[in-house]
Amino acid sequence: MKKILITGGAGFIGSHVVRLFVNQYPKYRIINLDKLTYAGNLENLRDVDQKPNYRFIKGDIAESGFINTLFAEEQFDGVIHLAAESHVDRSLENPNEFVITNIVGTVNLLHAASKAWQSNPEKRFYHISTDEVYGSIHGGGLFTESTHIDPQSPYSASKASSDHFVSAFGNSYKLPVLISRCSNNYGPNHFPEKLIPLMINNIIEEKPLPVYGKGENIRDWLYVIDHARAIDVIFHKGKTGEVYNIGGNNEWKNIDLVNFLCKVMDEKLGREEGASSKLITFVKDRPGHDLRYAIDSSKLQSQLGWSPSVTFEEGLNKTVDWYLSNKDWLSHVTSGSYRDYYSNMYANR
Ligand code: NAD
Ligand code: DAU
Repeated sequence: MKKILITGGAGFIGSHVVRLFVNQYPKYRIINLDKLTYAGNLENLRDVDQKPNYRFIKGDIAESGFINTLFAEEQFDGVIHLAAESHVDRSLENPNEFVITNIVGTVNLLHAASKAWQSNPEKRFYHISTDEVYGSIHGGGLFTESTHIDPQSPYSASKASSDHFVSAFGNSYKLPVLISRCSNNYGPNHFPEKLIPLMINNIIEEKPLPVYGKGENIRDWLYVIDHARAIDVIFHKGKTGEVYNIGGNNEWKNIDLVNFLCKVMDEKLGREEGASSKLITFVKDRPGHDLRYAIDSSKLQSQLGWSPSVTFEEGLNKTVDWYLSNKDWLSHVTSGSYRDYYSNMYANR
């Protein structure tokens, strides 16, 4: 019997990790701690929330008193830490929230775990990070685990800082830590402020598709369930003190990706070929927009035996099908503060 704390489990990636752990490890107790910000949604977990090995706690990782009490009371065997402010555009508008959750929140968890665990090597503190901490690639090559950390946005600076704190706690307090850095995820439950779900939502609603700059930036896309599978493998088989890159060798220029998505959706929606691409609108670029991310995950593949389970075409088709059959989810999350935020943002572009 193991008791695992998963933070941010009501969010996009976290909900897939919670589902995988609850279903795959009936003997574990999975505690999902989430503040339920605009990005957290318990609807994401409706299919597992009645299982006996699952429990939800609403709480803020930035509240140190609450976190210390939780660790003193619960005796966790492991932590999988995903809670974060995750959207680059929001970090450009309001960096303080990113400092508070991503840095202060992470340090609170590290501090509480090191006090509760007293250097016990059997425990595991697993921090979920991002390839964005490596900065931007101008030219060829891939990010490896030894690439220099060089964050370029307030979001990635906050994630890089939290990565450094994780390593520092491993070094200073002998906390058994693991870090993974994944490329861009896509799939069901992705909040429609990020590129792929935003475009899906706007194609459904026949609204403009805002492509930043000339659409020449490159991202490396991975299906979210393959990220959750990698997290499972690293949590159970990864060596503490190590960093693992996660990615699917799947680079796309934004404009090519949006055109491909338009084609897939025109077919599914029975629209004339080329109808959705006509909605593409080039808008003012993101400030400091990272040009290219591309990840080398050969360490994870060769040492721990993980590889992606779906091709991009399969993953994108599954994703579009999910959004088309979950329009209630879309309408719930696109109501309220999200609409206000985006109408203000695009008013300024
Ligand atoms: P998300 O924004 O969808 O979800 C974040 C979750 O954290 C939400 O449920 C939110 O309510 C919760 N949360 C936010 N602040 C909190 C706080 N103070 N206390 C407790 N809970 C809080 O994010 P995501 O895309 O699922 O990303 C999850 C993690 O994976 C993040 O750490 C992110 O940096 C990392 N990551 C994301 C991607 C990606 O492509 N989305 C890629 C690599 C790494
Ligand atoms: O690389 C991993 C990171 O991927 C994660 O750490 C972040 O949490 C996650 O949000 C994501 O960051 P990006 O900034 O790469 O993702 P986003 O979906 O915001 O943007 C993807 C690309 O599409 C980027 O080049 C900006 C562009 N874009 C985005 C939006 C929202 C557009 O052209 N138009 C848009 O409307």
